[in-house]
Amino acid sequence: MKQILENLKKENNYRFLKTIQYEGKYVLYQGKKVLNLAGNDYLNIAKNENLREEFFRQIQKKDFFLSSSSSRSLSGNCSVYEKFENDLAQKMNKTNPHSLKQMKSKDTKEVLHFNSGYQLNLSCIQALGTLANTLFIADKSIHASVIDGLRLSTSTFVRFRHNDMSHLESLLQQHYKKYENIILISEALFSMDGDFTKLKKLIEFKKQYKNILLYIDEAHSVGCFDESGLGFARYLGLDQEIDFLVFTFGKALASTGACIITKKEFKEFFINKARAFIYSTALPPLNVAWTHFIFEKLSTFTQQRHNLQEKSQFLKNTLLQNGFEVLGQAHIISLMCKSNEKADELANRILQCGIFAPAIKVPSVAKNTARIRFSLHCDLDEEDLEKIVKSLLQ
Ligand SMILES: Cc1ncc(COP(=O)(O)O)c(C=O)c1O
Repeated sequence: MKQILENLKKENNYRFLKTIQYEGKYVLYQGKKVLNLAGNDYLNIAKNENLREEFFRQIQKKDFFLSSSSSRSLSGNCSVYEKFENDLAQKMNKTNPHSLKQMKSKDTKEVLHFNSGYQLNLSCIQALGTLANTLFIADKSIHASVIDGLRLSTSTFVRFRHNDMSHLESLLQQHYKKYENIILISEALFSMDGDFTKLKKLIEFKKQYKNILLYIDEAHSVGCFDESGLGFARYLGLDQEIDFLVFTFGKALASTGACIITKKEFKEFFINKARAFIYSTALPPLNVAWTHFIFEKLSTFTQQRHNLQEKSQFLKNTLLQNGFEVLGQAHIISLMCKSNEKADELANRILQCGIFAPAIKVPSVAKNTARIRFSLHCDLDEEDLEKIVKSLLQ
C-alpha cells in the first residue's frame, strides 16, 4: 500500500482532502477567501437561502424524516418517493413543444429514483449486462460510474473515440449482426470536455440499426437546458427517443440522488435487478422532498440559465482570444495543460490570485490531457470573469 501511495505522489496523482467552508460564491480555503469554480451549483440553488426557508416552511411533517431506515424493497418506500417519481414522469410525458413527434401511449416513460448517480449507473448497467447477447458501446470519455458498471457487467463492451461518429459507425457495422441488443452509452454534456454528445446522430443510428437501445447521462445538463429545465435531450425535442435517460440531482438541482427515466418494463427490471437499488438504505425522505420541491421550481430559473450560458461563452471566447487551448461548449470549460505537473502548477498559481479550480488529472482524464476545469455558475459577474483571465495571464 505504501508503495502504491508513493507512486501516486511521484506521478503527481496523489489525492488529499481539502478542508473548505462555503461563503456564497466563495470558499474559505487555507485561510483565504477564493472564488469557487470547482462546484456544480450551476444555477446558484444550493446557495439560495430564501428557497431553503420556503422549503422548510412548507414541508409536511410526514416527510420530515432524516432516515428511511430501510431499502425501498423492504420498508423504506415512503410515499414521498412515489409522489416525486409520478410527478416527474408526468412532466416528461407531457407533449414536448420542441418535438414534432406525437406522443403515443407505447412511448410513455416512468421514473425510478436511486440514491446517487454513481449507484444508478453502476447497478443499472450491470443489470442490463445480464440480458442475453448484449453488447455495450460507450463513448471513450464516459463517466467512471458507467465504466465501473461496464466492468461489473458480464456482457462485452467496446468504446468509440470521444464523439467520433465515424468510429462509432464502424463499430456498429462490425458488431450489430452478432448481438440481439446493442446499448449505446453517452453523456448529454460531458463532465470533463464540457462538449455535447451528437444526439441527433445517435438517434439516426438507432433508427438505422434496429437493435440499439440508447442510454444518456444528463448529470451536467439537467436543470441547465430547456425552458422547463428538463435537460438537453428535452431541449432538442429528442427525449422520447432515449431508452434510458439519467438525471442526477447533486449538481444544478442542489440536492442528492438520481433517477432513470425509462419504460415501465425496464423500471420493473431495475427494481428487481439493480443491486444498489435493492441493497442500500433509501435516501432520507427529506432529501427526496427537497429534490421534488426544486423540480417544481425548475421552470422559473430561465434567467439563471440564460446568465450561465452567456457568461460561459464570454469566458471561453476571452480565453481563446488570449491564446489558451480550451474545451467546452457550455458551462464546463477546460483549460488544457497536458501534464499533471503543469496542471498542478497552474492550479496553485491561480489559487494565489483567489481562484479555486483544482487540477483534473490522470486517471480522471486521459494521459497528457490534464487540465484546469472551470465549473461556472450563473452568479459570476464581469469582475469575477476578468479575475479568472488575469490570474491565468500572471
Ligand atoms: C456524468 C456523471 N454521471 C454520474 C455522476 C455521479 O453522480 P452522483 O454524484 O449523483 O453520484 C457524475 C458525478 O460526478 C457525473 O459527472
